[in-house]
Amino acid sequence: MSVSFDLTGTTAVVTGAKRGIGYAMAEALAEAGADIIGVSATIEAEGSAIAAAVEAHGRRFEARAVDFADREAVLALAGELRDREIDILVNNAGTIERAPAAEHPLEWWDRVVEVNLSSQFVLTQAVGAGMLARGRGKVIFTASLLSFQGGINVPGYAAAKSGISGLVKALANEWTARGVTVNGIAPGYIATDNTQNLRDDPDRSKAILDRIPAGRWGRPDDIAGPTVFLASPASDYVSGVILPVDGGWLGR
Ligand SMILES: NC(=O)c1ccc[n+]([C@@H]2O[C@H](COP(=O)([O-])OP(=O)(O)OC[C@H]3O[C@@H](n4cnc5c(N)ncnc54)[C@H](OP(=O)(O)O)[C@@H]3O)[C@@H](O)[C@H]2O)c1
Repeated sequence: MSVSFDLTGTTAVVTGAKRGIGYAMAEALAEAGADIIGVSATIEAEGSAIAAAVEAHGRRFEARAVDFADREAVLALAGELRDREIDILVNNAGTIERAPAAEHPLEWWDRVVEVNLSSQFVLTQAVGAGMLARGRGKVIFTASLLSFQGGINVPGYAAAKSGISGLVKALANEWTARGVTVNGIAPGYIATDNTQNLRDDPDRSKAILDRIPAGRWGRPDDIAGPTVFLASPASDYVSGVILPVDGGWLGR
């Protein structure tokens, strides 16, 4: 028996790679051997921190600055990547807007659903077509606890992340027999810019912390190992699942 987590010779696209969870995912994939194409809204063409981290592992890094709220820009990226040999696609970029459902601005709803769900389908459709043609590939979505739960004051986010759960299963049903696995990772409460508002609110922060069996907020590097697993041959018989990485939250 041999178990391989080795990604040497592969190329991974990681969206939202500039900071937070995506940064940790990109660095972990590079450490395991993958060259990285890092995408985010504002990533620098040269000299980003994540470029330096990837190159420190001896891997190549390319940056693409794309706003996922801009359908034409996402289609242009998709068109470029369709012709590249991409082995791993990590759909991680995401945004959040907080306001009670009755007052939630419709522009926020549209933007969150576009960035967190629709743009990810546009990109995955194109990159996945290349993977299917080559008969191999790994697609990983960053889902959320709100792929399972409703959350508070984030109706667009909860709807988009629940949509990701459906998309993972829909794509897995079509693609797994053709060599492409499709899975999600559901991070729990991770200390990044995305959750700064929650951590700034002493009551919400305490309520969240008290419910996490691990007794601490998660860190971006908690997501690193599961990402390498789902990107590697070690997970070849895993498809269509959302893996919670949440310090035990969902089991509570
Ligand atoms: N933190 C948590 O507790 C948590 C829990 C569950 C799920 N998640 C999910 O994890 C993913 C990463 O979040 P994070 O916590 O790492 O947040 P973060 O620190 O705010 O990072 C978000 C990343 O996504 C990129 N991004 C945001 N909007 C974009 C847009 N319109 N176009 C292109 N890129 C965009 C950002 O690009 P720039 O850097 O260029 O702005 C950034 O690199 C998201 O899908 C989020 O929903 C987070």
